[in-house]
Amino acid sequence: MQPVYLITGGAGNLACQLTFPLAEFGIRCVLLDVVEEPVAPVAAGCEYVRGDVTIAEDMETLFRDYEPRVVVHFASLLSAASEANRAAAWALNATGAFTLLELALAHRVERFFFPSSLAAYGGRLPDLIADDQVQWPDGMYGVTKATVERLGVYYARRHGLDFRSLRVPIVVSRYAHLGAASSYVSRAFMETARNGAFVFQVRPDSQPALIYTRDVINAMVMLLEAPAEKLQQHVYNIQALSPTAKELAVAIGVHYPDASLEFQTDNGIADLIDSWPRRFDDTAARRDWSWRSTYDLEAMAADFAATLATGDEKIA
Ligand SMILES: NC(=O)c1ccc[n+]([C@@H]2O[C@H](COP(=O)([O-])OP(=O)(O)OC[C@H]3O[C@@H](n4cnc5c(N)ncnc54)[C@H](O)[C@@H]3O)[C@@H](O)[C@H]2O)c1
Repeated sequence: MQPVYLITGGAGNLACQLTFPLAEFGIRCVLLDVVEEPVAPVAAGCEYVRGDVTIAEDMETLFRDYEPRVVVHFASLLSAASEANRAAAWALNATGAFTLLELALAHRVERFFFPSSLAAYGGRLPDLIADDQVQWPDGMYGVTKATVERLGVYYARRHGLDFRSLRVPIVVSRYAHLGAASSYVSRAFMETARNGAFVFQVRPDSQPALIYTRDVINAMVMLLEAPAEKLQQHVYNIQALSPTAKELAVAIGVHYPDASLEFQTDNGIADLIDSWPRRFDDTAARRDWSWRSTYDLEAMAADFAATLATGDEKIA
């Protein structure tokens, strides 16, 4: 029988894109989400189920109906929505994760994957963030991410659940939530391609850690499928790109030579972006599951521009 992977937040950006490599492994994805339909194409053979992670009884029924081998828990309120509605953020991001972890134990799920975030860090940070950097997140979203990391490690150590997590940098993707402050890199590409112009509100030297969507999907598949005996920890940092916004503008301009790329810094937005980690030490990810980023700034810019030009909608 085909193994079933239950992907919550299954209509979202990363979930849709993850279905393609998983389908190549012969995995059947069951995508669960509250919205009507996925934001992007999904691989053939996926099943889409509407449901709400915060309704525990519905999740119980879902686990009984599908008996998933692996849970990939993407459903989340992102940073701005979490700050705007702390109760909803806690109910989905923290209590929802607790419900799924309990169900994973009860239904003998083999593996539980959770995407944490660079927002799980905050306060005064060193230039290079180690896996064991103390976490004092500044925002509600980051607080819930750090909480679920701790919960997952508890379930792993105390109850033997195979919990795996990545602290994901800002993902550069055409399906990024365009309202989020963190989506400015994705917007810079898309608005430049569409309108021939983009105004950066960050500082020219702002350089939060980024990752191209193809790289992050690759990292997720590598960690998901890594042999358990190779993994010496449950939560990993990964490093991909840390260009300054100025360098980014130059790399985008190479593909749109007539475009206008300007800076009008908004201090509120720039301060938020500048409070996030710039670079991660990913020694453990390289050692345990052979993580290597494939897309540097130039490769990402070339691929994203080509993808936007050809209209290939599967991944990016
Ligand atoms: N994209 C990034 O830059 C980034 C960076 C770090 C971590 N992450 C994490 O990766 C995961 C996926 O991110 P994404 O970019 O695909 O986000 P996304 O917003 O595209 O997807 C999240 C999905 O969760 C769904 N959802 C919301 N409430 C729900 C509920 N109650 N029940 C079921 N589904 C619900 C939404 O409808 C949405 O489709 C999230 O956990 C996010 O925090 C993303």
